[in-house]
Amino acid sequence: MPAQHPVPSYLQADNLGPWGNYLQQVDRVIPYLGHLARWAETLKRPKRALIVDVPIQLDNGTVAHFEGYRVQHNTSRGPGKGGVRFHQDVTLSEVMALSAWMSIKNAAVNVPYGGAKGGIRVDPKKLSLGELERMTRRYTSEIGIIIGPTKDIPAPDVNTNEQIMAWMMDTYSMNEGATATGVVTGKPVDLGGSLGRRDATGRGVFTVGVEAARHLGMDVSTARIAVQGFGNVGGVAARLFTETGAKVVAVQDHGGTVYRDSGLDVTALLAHVAKAGTVAGFTQADVLPNAAFWEVDCDILIPAALEQQITVDNAGRIKAKLIIEGANGPTTPAADDILQERGILVLPDVIANAGGVTVSYFEWVQDFSSFFWGEDEINARLVRIMKEAFAAVWQVSQDHKVTLRTATFIVACKRILHARELRGLYP
Ligand SMILES: NC(=O)c1ccc[n+]([C@@H]2O[C@H](COP(=O)([O-])OP(=O)(O)OC[C@H]3O[C@@H](n4cnc5c(N)ncnc54)[C@H](O)[C@@H]3O)[C@@H](O)[C@H]2O)c1
Repeated sequence: MPAQHPVPSYLQADNLGPWGNYLQQVDRVIPYLGHLARWAETLKRPKRALIVDVPIQLDNGTVAHFEGYRVQHNTSRGPGKGGVRFHQDVTLSEVMALSAWMSIKNAAVNVPYGGAKGGIRVDPKKLSLGELERMTRRYTSEIGIIIGPTKDIPAPDVNTNEQIMAWMMDTYSMNEGATATGVVTGKPVDLGGSLGRRDATGRGVFTVGVEAARHLGMDVSTARIAVQGFGNVGGVAARLFTETGAKVVAVQDHGGTVYRDSGLDVTALLAHVAKAGTVAGFTQADVLPNAAFWEVDCDILIPAALEQQITVDNAGRIKAKLIIEGANGPTTPAADDILQERGILVLPDVIANAGGVTVSYFEWVQDFSSFFWGEDEINARLVRIMKEAFAAVWQVSQDHKVTLRTATFIVACKRILHARELRGLYP
């Protein structure tokens, strides 16, 4: 057999970043794939990775260049699907890992998509609104050769929102010469967006979180909760948990950590963040040093910011009994092992935060049929899909005595590789 390189030449073999974490997660599942293991290598290479230069004129008349990516990890089960991240630390390795987790997630909740992800290496907070629009439009035009309603459908992720999706949809439509609402999801409702999409990821986190807590015999309504990341995912999840009576005692974001032993006023904190852009400066709370966040006395911990936050350095100090991964890739494999040894249940990203893509799927379906559903119907369908996916994964974890992460990978990888086998290799 000709030699195969385990790692592509465009990555640093001794520093694989998030892609390295993903590869370890895949290796853990291969023993459970039976005859489908023959196809497992396909999971370890993205199908397509596009790197684009994004030049724009800044307001001061100079020209700036940004590095942009769109990676399609796997399209065996359908078109690529996954968000676009604007962040100064975005790398190819990160976008590759995020695209792969999308493949797993979409298969885990059984929506008919492959996995993809995009990003621009930029701190968007340093751009004016006009610069942000020009950058978004140029990026969309550059990746336009591989995206489309039946090819690859972007959505919001960190630092991207409904307005950015509106610009992406418009740019793609201008280039195509026809309005194509189905090219992105997470759009404003007035432009073919779906009711319920904004809250969908947080609602999914909450829904499966409650299911997992039930299996642990934990009463959510009296639980103490710590949340890292108070944006679209963390903010909504925190709100829904407090509506049951649970107390959110600590919240950390990029600006700092706030704490209140008797429970933070989440509504007031959301209003503060809407104005100040960060939890820092919230007067109805104590300030904690960032490192102390991980030791907070709580029952449920929700990482909902960035990847690689729970590591060997803090996994031994976490007090929660349940971790619900709102963020993608917040826990390193080594930390996962420590948490498992300590009997802490980790509800992994690839199921916990799948609510967003599930309602994105509803949005895409509604756009194709130009027939829009009510919010109650959307939420009911979302909750049903999330509960069914959780139940299937829970059962597999019991049957094989594996973590929920490995169980989710077993369910998802089997679906992806079965589709791969049915389609066969081209040519
Ligand atoms: N938005 C979605 O629908 C969706 C769906 C699935 C997964 N996710 C994942 O959820 C996570 C959060 O996404 P979002 O859409 O809520 O983003 P967002 O931009 O709305 O919020 C991000 C939050 O993370 C915080 N943060 C950033 N850097 C931080 C740091 N170094 N330390 C602590 N906090 C930090 C920010 O302050 C902010 O509160 C990401 O991992 C994303 O991939 C999002």
